[in-house]
Amino acid sequence: MHDIYTRPLRDLRISVTDRCNFRCTYCMPFDEYEWIDKKEILTFEEITRLADLFVQLGVDKIRLTGGEPLLRRDLDKLVSKLSSLNRLEDLCLTTNGSLLAEKASALKSAGLRRINVSLDTLDPEKFARIRRRGDLAKVLEGLFAAKRCGLSPIKINVVVERGVNDDDIIDLVEFSRKNGFAIRFIEYMDVGNSNNWTSEKLVAKKEILDIIDARYPLREVGRDKGSAPSMDYEFIDGEGDVGVIASVTEPFCSTCTRARLTADGKLVTCLFSATGYDLRALLRNGATDEEIIETFSSIWRKRTDRYSDERLEAMNSGRGYRAKDHKKIEMITLGG
Ligand SMILES: C[S@@+](CC[C@H](N)C(=O)[O-])C[C@H]1O[C@@H](n2cnc3c(N)ncnc32)[C@H](O)[C@@H]1O
Ligand code: SF4
Repeated sequence: MHDIYTRPLRDLRISVTDRCNFRCTYCMPFDEYEWIDKKEILTFEEITRLADLFVQLGVDKIRLTGGEPLLRRDLDKLVSKLSSLNRLEDLCLTTNGSLLAEKASALKSAGLRRINVSLDTLDPEKFARIRRRGDLAKVLEGLFAAKRCGLSPIKINVVVERGVNDDDIIDLVEFSRKNGFAIRFIEYMDVGNSNNWTSEKLVAKKEILDIIDARYPLREVGRDKGSAPSMDYEFIDGEGDVGVIASVTEPFCSTCTRARLTADGKLVTCLFSATGYDLRALLRNGATDEEIIETFSSIWRKRTDRYSDERLEAMNSGRGYRAKDHKKIEMITLGG
């Protein structure tokens, strides 16, 4: 099944909750949001049914995210259901790490193999400034608990923001090399409507790589399966690898095979979408599997999203790009 630009559907990101116990400045800077009502959140049975249908349509990789996915009670039960789906090759989870120390072992036993943990600095004060809740020690504890119980690979996600943590890049690289973690630097993006993104806050992939390469020389490896968001590099000395997700300066829309399912069951076809399609209504109105599959397929076949390509075109043109002119679903709702 291909969209208008011949992109297949391969990956599904499922947001299991829009709630979060952090308030990262780059994602969710306000104290209060209009939370999705609990009754509207998909149950594990509903998520599993939809995931199964997505797998039948070609999805072979599912990532659980949010909000903070580990806030969803008994998440290991969902992991267990999803990890036994036939033909699903890869199930992973992205977390802020705050509850990972307590939950890593149950997640591993339920069938999770790998995990991404967001960590933007190793400086406790800076951590408090960026993430505004929680504490660094708990996240580090979570990372090492995940390692002890055998989750692998463990990838650290770092959002790089100019003047905030661009001077932490080498510390984070050294930390990941020393402890056997993979590390992914993410260009700061204009997700949602609240983070006041401007291109001045962006540290481009090239600059990130130049900083790392000057200390630890790198060799390009490429994108996993040719379509992963991260462009990967290995250290020439053999001590691990590093990736950069350059959605702003080197968009990868032409190879984007991802769909997203929000916690309340909206199907979203781009991280920068303004709306989604209400699959929960179909589910709760008694639609058959065939009807749901027909709906997915017709949405995917009409898909024309190429937001990051268009953003770059606008940035490079005389007209420029203003994030505020584009209303988008918040990242906590649609799942990063
Ligand atoms: C929205 S979070 C959800 C999962 C979990 N709460 C966490 O923080 O890992 C998923 C990923 O999106 C990243 N992210 C959030 N806001 C971003 C932004 N403005 N630009 C780039 N990445 C962002 C986070 O760093 C995280 O790695
Ligand atoms: S990046 Fe993750 S931890 Fe931070 S506010 Fe967003 S959802 Fe929460």
